[in-house]
Amino acid sequence: MSYQSAQPFPFEKSPSAVAAAEREALLRNPGFGRVFTDHMVTMRYSQEHGWHDGKIGPRGAFPLDPATLVLHYGQEIFEGMKAYRLPDGGASLFRPDANARRFRSSAERLAMAPLPEELFLQSVRALVRTERDWIPAAEGASLYIRPFMFATEVLLGVKPSAEYLYCIIASPVGSYFKSGAPAVTLWVSETYTRAAPGGTGAAKCGGNYAASLAAQAEATAEGCEQVVFLDAVERRWVEELGGMNVFFVFDDGSLQTPPLGGTILPGITRDSLIVLARDLGLTVREEPYAIDQWQADARSGRLTEAFACGTAAVVTPIGTVKGRRHGFTIGEGGAGPVAARLKAALLDIQNGRAPDRHGWLDRLA
Ligand code: PLP
Ligand code: COI
Repeated sequence: MSYQSAQPFPFEKSPSAVAAAEREALLRNPGFGRVFTDHMVTMRYSQEHGWHDGKIGPRGAFPLDPATLVLHYGQEIFEGMKAYRLPDGGASLFRPDANARRFRSSAERLAMAPLPEELFLQSVRALVRTERDWIPAAEGASLYIRPFMFATEVLLGVKPSAEYLYCIIASPVGSYFKSGAPAVTLWVSETYTRAAPGGTGAAKCGGNYAASLAAQAEATAEGCEQVVFLDAVERRWVEELGGMNVFFVFDDGSLQTPPLGGTILPGITRDSLIVLARDLGLTVREEPYAIDQWQADARSGRLTEAFACGTAAVVTPIGTVKGRRHGFTIGEGGAGPVAARLKAALLDIQNGRAPDRHGWLDRLA
């Protein structure tokens, strides 16, 4: 097809690509992260050759030596971003330059070879162009893009790998949360923390998610969808959820979100919502918020809404918070007007229905 002509990487078509009718059926109800497109990007790094051998080929398994470093010491980072279908039939990414920057800083924190931001952007755009028929058209659906990189040197010594494999896969997605409920329930983890000062909390590395799973399992056992982590030093300040940032809305119309201090992920959705809220004339504070204050403010009515945000979660209202020492409902326990307004403002830009005043859309040629 014509869009392949702009292909900066050698392309090998998948012999087992899904037929159009089957793809359309899969796109009707993709869920989250269960359906995958036909192709993937791969690129290798070695100290001798730098970044090389970039290509787009059939999606498939990696043969790995059992002594591959990532399998032992977990040197792995990833990104999460989405491609959206536009009203004119075109497609667009949302702030991919911010993902490219974060991927580089995650690599630096994990002592991995940073991928040049321009190569990240070219490779993401190239895969989305290749897989553009997989971008769902339904409202709320998109093509989730997962760039990742891991240590491939074969060695049991503990040191930064001298070799890496970078890969991008793509997955058409609908809503991240299965329940379809208007708001999610959170479990306050008292037993576990996610990240400590000086640790990897601000990096998007697989290890952070591995460390969050025992807390997430506790949340699930308590009937909650997500875990909310407190800071590792005082066990008092709300940091973020297992896979999302968090915002609070007060009865004076102002918003607050925990500051970026190195222990939470600097979310691109978080940053975008701060800008959009200020565009709407709302006051936004990046200040610490204590879990006991959250409970007191929810009970007094000073807090009117809280919501989670992220690429996967978009904007998801928080209805109820439970924990060993906490239990409270926010407002009526459902979706609130400020979250709804911000979500609509964000989705309208991402889907090309509103003017892109901040230059956030990256339209695919
Ligand atoms: N915090 C964590 C731990 C995450 O996994 C994510 C998801 O990527 C976010 C926050 C939100 O980041 P973003 O808005 O860039 O997707
Ligand atoms: C994302 O939002 O992109 C994430 O990585 C979060 C994860 C829960 C899917």
